[in-house]
Amino acid sequence: MTSELADFVKVGGLGDVSAVLPRALRKRHDVRVLIPGYPQVLARAKDLEIVAKLPGTANIPGCDLARFDTEDGMPIYVVVQRQLFERDGSPYLDIHGQDWSDNDVRFGCLSLAAAEMASGAGDPNWRPQLVHANDWPTALAPAYMAWRNVRIPTVFTIHNLAYQGLFPASALGRLGIPGEAFNVNGVEFFDQLSFLKAGIFYSSHVTTVSETYAREIVSPTSGCGLDGLLRTRAAEGRLTGILNGIDEVWDPRFEPSLVRNFASGDWAGKRQNAIALRKHFRLAVSRGPLFAVVSRLVQQKGIDLVVEAADEIVAAGGQLIITGTGERHLEHEVRELVDRHPGQVAAHIGFDECEAKNVYAGSDFLLMPSRFEPCGLSQMYAQKFGSLPIAHRVGGLADSIQDGINGLLFKTPSSAAFQGALVRAFGIFGSKARLNRMRTVAMQRAAGWRDACENYESVYARAVGNG
Ligand code: ADP
Ligand code: GLC
Repeated sequence: MTSELADFVKVGGLGDVSAVLPRALRKRHDVRVLIPGYPQVLARAKDLEIVAKLPGTANIPGCDLARFDTEDGMPIYVVVQRQLFERDGSPYLDIHGQDWSDNDVRFGCLSLAAAEMASGAGDPNWRPQLVHANDWPTALAPAYMAWRNVRIPTVFTIHNLAYQGLFPASALGRLGIPGEAFNVNGVEFFDQLSFLKAGIFYSSHVTTVSETYAREIVSPTSGCGLDGLLRTRAAEGRLTGILNGIDEVWDPRFEPSLVRNFASGDWAGKRQNAIALRKHFRLAVSRGPLFAVVSRLVQQKGIDLVVEAADEIVAAGGQLIITGTGERHLEHEVRELVDRHPGQVAAHIGFDECEAKNVYAGSDFLLMPSRFEPCGLSQMYAQKFGSLPIAHRVGGLADSIQDGINGLLFKTPSSAAFQGALVRAFGIFGSKARLNRMRTVAMQRAAGWRDACENYESVYARAVGNG
């Protein structure tokens, strides 16, 4: 279950992973995905069939459970609750960029629907043997199951510990949470209700999206206040890091939106994409390196470090493209940066998947100075398109990038360390043999889901009690 599915709506990497992991697992298991009935889903779902009416609890209204199959045959269950989910805006924010004020009830409703399905109240023709919940919007599912004595194993994946789903204690009543669960051994987090903690506390097994992040989050510096509980889970053998893969459709040989397809070795083909990209972003013709950012523009991603480094990049003969949306003040800083360097720095404050692919294909380096990064997918997409990631050695970036081989890593998220890596990048760009060797290794990096699927299968098997 998930709050984002790239087929219909995505805010970040969770949407990508939610779309690809179940498809990879489906080859061997009967996997079905549960999502909220956002307008984007209801408008595009074909032959939506209502299979059950699910009850609510406290202020959570009842809902319809509907089912349809995607074109490639993946069964999707949809929580149809028009009052809660049929709204303009993003899954989490209204059109003004504010959290929906009833996110507790909205995602409580999604979580409760999963618990009802697990209890047998859902599709009369199907009941899950295991529920896999992802991130805080789904995290009350294992909790509702525990409170209702539904004895079906649950796996909870943390895609980002920084988003916890915190609500005031007054939300407990609205969500029908038993009073005794508001406890350090339960859903309480410093006098607030934490969805994420509920997921960690009540699930049979916790996973996160890279091995390094799994090691980082058990420490006070990266544990966002949950490191104590996570340390306990790790000591019990119930916390596992599994690095995400990417979809195999991310391939510059076949990607239809590129001006020219290219394989590793066809550097003239990659250059054609660089020329087209510069034109699209109205950058001056240049023989220097082209750096890019494709990211949510948020503090986590170190966008401020990029803005700080941009003057140096331009002074050294480089150019920079930034695409993404996010925090207003960062969007504003990016716009100002573009105004300072017309023709050398360009930005699109927005997100368009085809444009993102063209940015990966046409750029030489992808900048990802994330302060922390549970996994990160952008660096893997960039590698596939021959753009070398320059990243902070943290989380999934450390697990997917080999320094000097298929990208560049630096040790601390500081301007000095980042700029040191940029200097190295200019050096590599100056030696075409080295640049092309690194591009080749990056493009050939195995980034599929095979290993991840096997690891999830063993986690599932353990949770079911067979492992
Ligand atoms: P995160 O999930 O933290 O944003 P990832 O690197 O795992 O980081 O995933 C980013 C994914 O989201 C990529 O598919 C990227 O192309 C896409 N993406 C980046 N910025 C945006 C945005 N502003 N809106 C929607 N998707 C975005
Ligand atoms: C989160 C993380 C990101 C990860 C993605 C998919 O959004 O911030 O690092 O790649 O989830 O798991």
